[in-house]
Amino acid sequence: MPRLALVTAIAAAALDDDLVPLLDACARAGIVTQIRAWDDPTVTWSRFDAVLLRSPWDYTERLGEFLDWCAHVSTRSRLLNPLPVVRWNTDKHYLAALAERSVPVVATCFVEPDMDPLPTLQAFLAEHPQASEFVVKPAVGAGSRDAQRYSRDQEFAAANHIARLLDAERSAMLQPYLASVDRDGETALMFFDGRFSHAIRKGPLLQRDERPTEHLFAAEEITARIPGQDELALAGRVLAAAAECLHLQSPLTYARVDLIRDDDGSPRLLELELCEPSLFFVHAPGSADRFAALMADTLRGVSAT
Ligand SMILES: Nc1ncnc2c1ncn2[C@@H]1O[C@H](COP(=O)(O)OP(=O)(O)O)[C@@H](O)[C@H]1O
Ligand SMILES: [Mg+2]
Repeated sequence: MPRLALVTAIAAAALDDDLVPLLDACARAGIVTQIRAWDDPTVTWSRFDAVLLRSPWDYTERLGEFLDWCAHVSTRSRLLNPLPVVRWNTDKHYLAALAERSVPVVATCFVEPDMDPLPTLQAFLAEHPQASEFVVKPAVGAGSRDAQRYSRDQEFAAANHIARLLDAERSAMLQPYLASVDRDGETALMFFDGRFSHAIRKGPLLQRDERPTEHLFAAEEITARIPGQDELALAGRVLAAAAECLHLQSPLTYARVDLIRDDDGSPRLLELELCEPSLFFVHAPGSADRFAALMADTLRGVSAT
């Protein structure tokens, strides 16, 4: 029987709601499946036919170590998604590459470690006079960690936040705060093998005057959602543009496209998750079984039809 590893982190195993439904579905699909932590040095990865990234959520402050681990696993098993995809997608500079391919992304200014935080922030605010609030977050980030929402009169605090990220050799990002999220939330669309599976609504995560979460990820309010036609169309464009950037020959095993509507009501790309997205199986009956069937096909070396 084929053997599959579901990869979490020692610190995240108990927090990942997808693991148990996926483990059960894989058992129903005839796959021997084990949950393993990427940061457990005792695991022999070559014992698995495929190694599926699920919740290695603590890599953001040690990305180099994580990518070295991914490279190591890739020489011993089949890593999903593959190493070049993970390399590209774990740094949100990919948003700039997608914007160059005409994908409407949330307006983003990247602040690099050699830049001066305050003048950069002031230039960003001058470019976005209509933004009454804005967001500072790291370019390598997950789970809303180190992300904070500011109003225009909090320039000094925000510049300090940027400086803290840059001092740690991390690139920062500035974005206008899209206020529609407070009412409508964001939409996350899940794709398995390039096909739309299901979507959820995620409530707003950044509260006014609240410091970034101290936890591995901020508590999320999730409900099932039927995406709009415009959201489905945009998600398709996002995946096509990513496939171009990555020179992909076949669809990605899994992808999640996170969208927020801008002030005009048009959806914009907040994040494309190709490394370790929650897939919210419990909110979509049948979705874990669909994913497990895809895994079974993949492990048999047969492309899903
Ligand atoms: N520009 C923005 N406008 C409104 N909300 C935002 C914006 N950027 C981030 N957020 C909020 O912060 C959360 C985390 O940001 P996100 O870009 O998804 O990073 P990550 O999930 O990788 O930490 C989002 O789910 C959203 O609630
Ligand atoms: Mg997110």
